Amino acid sequence: MSLYAAFRSIGAYVPEKILTNADLEQMVDTSDEWITKRTGIKERRLAADDESTSDMAAKASQIAMDRAGLTHEDIDLVVCATVTPDYFNMPSTATVISDKLNIRNVQAFDISAACSGFVYALSVARAFVESGMKKNVLIIGAEKFSSIVDWTDRGTCILFGDGAGAAVISATEDKSEAIIDIHASADGAYTDMLITPAPGSVHPMNQANLDAGLQYVQMKGNETFKLAVKTLTKDVKEILEKNNIDAADIPHFIPHQANYRIIKAVGDALGMREDQTVLTIHKYGNTSAASIPMAINDLYEAGGLKHGELMLLDTFGGGLTWASAVLPFAGKNA
Ligand code: ACO
Repeated sequence: MSLYAAFRSIGAYVPEKILTNADLEQMVDTSDEWITKRTGIKERRLAADDESTSDMAAKASQIAMDRAGLTHEDIDLVVCATVTPDYFNMPSTATVISDKLNIRNVQAFDISAACSGFVYALSVARAFVESGMKKNVLIIGAEKFSSIVDWTDRGTCILFGDGAGAAVISATEDKSEAIIDIHASADGAYTDMLITPAPGSVHPMNQANLDAGLQYVQMKGNETFKLAVKTLTKDVKEILEKNNIDAADIPHFIPHQANYRIIKAVGDALGMREDQTVLTIHKYGNTSAASIPMAINDLYEAGGLKHGELMLLDTFGGGLTWASAVLPFAGKNA
């Protein structure tokens, strides 16, 4: 009997504090009109000062575990995708989350793939489950992106927000529930396109590097934008063709929420209708690895995601990394 990996449940946590475009107008030389027109973002959420990435992740995870009908004792692997971990560089955020959820004595580790992290984690969970090594994998995308943003840089600070999403990937023998395909790729030639230079072995934590602001995210926005549209369009076309799926037959296109114009350009190139495309960019901004699971959760809680319905995920981020996935939702209806 073959083993397959099923996307069993979804959960998310959204911090309370809202930062609007009007608030940003008071902080940097920008306008609600510019941000709305160029990105589609109206507001984003910010974690509280004493709220960490693992705090948000643990809340999202508990919801995902409850919806899967599982307890902490059933989870046998925890994978957290984040570029804003609780600690640079140890312990991993996944181990801190495990402790908060009372998940003991199981493998736990982080994945660093920026905005592509959740789909990367999905591919890892799938491999562990299909090989028979694990039965119930908790995957998480969580970011306190506000902790690495330079709030004086209008080119980046308007884009990002905080939040967390989580899912349980479980073993099944029912092929109709199986994740159909995942593409995950990277090209390190574009390292400097999106980077937080410090702290790390290249630029260790010291006063000179801090004074130079190397701890903040730096982005070549316009180049990243063009590469994202080109790469995602090609990647998604390939995964659909390879699996003989027509874009028109996908009920839920759930792209990474980085910029409405990227989503629209890729969606148009694929022939996606508006009613197929899930959008949260206006209210959460870009939450990096948390963006896709937060969007899936929004759809689920609105009653729009039913058992067996197909999801098409696509994402693009620092590295550069990119990924796409086609899978049915194998959880209970909301
Ligand atoms: N308010 C007002 N004006 C601004 C702002 C702002 N917040 N930011 C930039 N500008 C100005 C620039 O200074 C520039 O002015 P100039 O023409 O006088 O020089 C002008 O607006 C145009 O700047 P561009 O950078 O060319 O604007 P663009 O249309 O490319 O939009 C943006 C910028 C929104 C950042 C866009 O490039 C983008 O979304 N890029 C992709 C981001 C992304 O997808 N990242 C990947 C995922 S993130 C991750 O992995 C962590």
